[in-house]
Amino acid sequence: MYEVKALSAATAAFFIFFASSAVSVLGSEELMKSNNCLICHKVDTKSIGPSLQDIAAKYTEDDDAVATLTKSIQEGSKGKYGEVAMPAQKQVSDDDLKAISEWILTLSAAPTGEELMKSNNCLICHKVDTKSIGPSLQDIAAKYTEDDDAVATLTKSIQEGSKGKYGEVAMPAQKQVSDDDLKTISEWILTQGKKSE
Ligand code: HEC
Ligand code: HEC
Repeated sequence: MYEVKALSAATAAFFIFFASSAVSVLGSEELMKSNNCLICHKVDTKSIGPSLQDIAAKYTEDDDAVATLTKSIQEGSKGKYGEVAMPAQKQVSDDDLKAISEWILTLSAAPTGEELMKSNNCLICHKVDTKSIGPSLQDIAAKYTEDDDAVATLTKSIQEGSKGKYGEVAMPAQKQVSDDDLKTISEWILTQGKKSE
């Protein structure tokens, strides 16, 4: 049993953070709901229209993406994603068009290492720059600056658990994390050391 108090405080902070970030997201999602867009669009799966993640992924490198999406919503779109066309959505105000387009573009399909650590509950025990129940991510990164096999080592530690490397508290195996996500997370952790130096 380790520090139940610290754990629950960290858990509470975690959920408060989550709740507050969910509010701003709901703003634009509400706009899509009230404009009936969600009849044809879901965030992460294709329905009548493409998923919002697929739309976001198409424009990751495109500086004019907001303008392109705005125009497509206003005038309709066809042939970009499949056989079904989207009719013009003339009911949407200019302000709402911009808010919706910007929001869609934040929904890119591949989550970052940081997002994956949040969704896998790692941040209950790890902070970026200070030790909590587990070592800081900066301390982990610093330990491996000269190590070419660092990604493989971290991947294995996360999957199988780790003990005795940083202190007395052991990390239980985190078997819920997929192989792809393990790699993304490990690579991201290793970039965290550079900032402190
Ligand atoms: C009747 C179903 C339907 C509705 C309602 C609908 N869409 Fe679409 N939407 C589609 C389809 C189908 C496509 C794919 C069109 C294509 O292949 O070019 C699409 C494509 C898009 C795209 C991508 C355009 C691009 O240029 O890449 C965006 C953004 C979008 N929709 C947003 C919206 C918004 C915002 C609303 C509500 C105001 C909305 N859609 C309502 C079916 C719909
Ligand atoms: C219950 C608390 C807890 C959770 C949850 C947790 N960790 Fe840990 N983690 C620790 C502790 C404690 C250590 C230090 C273990 C040691 O000394 O070897 C550690 C060590 C690590 C290390 C260093 C391993 C090494 O070989 O140097 C990595 C990387 C890591 N954790 C990533 C993660 C990731 C990713 C997750 C979520 C999938 C996670 N941790 C979830 C407590 C936790």
